[in-house]
Amino acid sequence: MGHTTTSPPVTVIGLGPMGRAIAGAFLAAGHPTTVWNRTADKAGDLLTRGATWADGPQAALQASELTVVCVVDADAVEAVLDRALAESDHRRLPATTLVNLTSEAPRRTRELALRVDGLGMAYLDGAIMTPAAVIGTETTRILYSGPAALLDRHRPTLAALGGAAVHLGADPGRAATFDVALLNLFWTSITGLMHSFALAARQEVPATALAPHAQQMAQLMADLLPALAAEIDGGSFSGEGSAALTSVAASLEHIVHALDETEVPSAVTRAAKEVVDAAVAAGHGGDAPVRLAEFLSRGAAAGQPPARSGAA
Ligand SMILES: NC(=O)c1ccc[n+]([C@@H]2O[C@H](COP(=O)([O-])OP(=O)(O)OC[C@H]3O[C@@H](n4cnc5c(N)ncnc54)[C@H](OP(=O)(O)O)[C@@H]3O)[C@@H](O)[C@H]2O)c1
Repeated sequence: MGHTTTSPPVTVIGLGPMGRAIAGAFLAAGHPTTVWNRTADKAGDLLTRGATWADGPQAALQASELTVVCVVDADAVEAVLDRALAESDHRRLPATTLVNLTSEAPRRTRELALRVDGLGMAYLDGAIMTPAAVIGTETTRILYSGPAALLDRHRPTLAALGGAAVHLGADPGRAATFDVALLNLFWTSITGLMHSFALAARQEVPATALAPHAQQMAQLMADLLPALAAEIDGGSFSGEGSAALTSVAASLEHIVHALDETEVPSAVTRAAKEVVDAAVAAGHGGDAPVRLAEFLSRGAAAGQPPARSGAA
């Protein structure tokens, strides 16, 4: 990426692995970059590369029209804001833009957005969907939510982070909603995959022997995904040609037996089976697995025994 002397200044608060990658990408793109982190020694390499150290969070916010904060969670963001306020005479923060790339739950993110707004700053939330190592490359994928105009104004600067900057909507909690939904998919899938490798290993099947078949299954799921989503949004749960939930329950039952026989802990599969069993008990045994999305979306009520089976 080319350096220009006109690149706008930017501040990065939080220098964990992700914050360091972000600050490094801004520096590489030629942005005068101010950094601050609770633990100062993490800035070392960035300072060598030309970053400016701020004496505290207030000075860091003051240094640029755009500040990216990337710390462990919303409590840490609040701790940074509290410290900035303590350093400020005015009990308000500089009227600049805070782009929060910290992962957090949606409701907590909305609370934080309100607080930042009340402190006189503009707030944009972002969820980073790719690892620190690829920040600044085309692989980066960041989902933003909050005022679209704010993202548009800062797009040229945020482009230094690379890849796609996708705007999801005005609700500041929307990026966090996508984040937790996608990470739930990722980590439950990874846990399931590791569980399967463990089951295979107990039967002398190496992971590399199972891998090509597991890859085909993952591909099948990826291929089916758009059609399943359309069925859910269209309220169609009969799943023409798909396995019925009673059949899924039977399949999970024999997987649990296989795990128990080989003494591989079966908690992961039992948890999936519990969800399917509850849906069957609620009268959805003849429906396709897409019914589970609607069933679970009823919230806590989905875990309760049904008052009457057969509800549509
Ligand atoms: N790393 C990745 O590949 C990746 C990928 C996607 C999303 N993310 C998200 O990016 C965010 C940052 O992740 P990370 O990998 O850089 O490391 P992290 O361990 O999640 O966060 C470390 C940062 O949080 C700061 N921090 C923690 N508690 C604090 C407090 N009470 N007050 C002020 N600062 C505090 C740390 O400061 P000190 O140095 O002083 O401890 C450090 O700057 C997280 O929300 C993470 O989920 C990370």
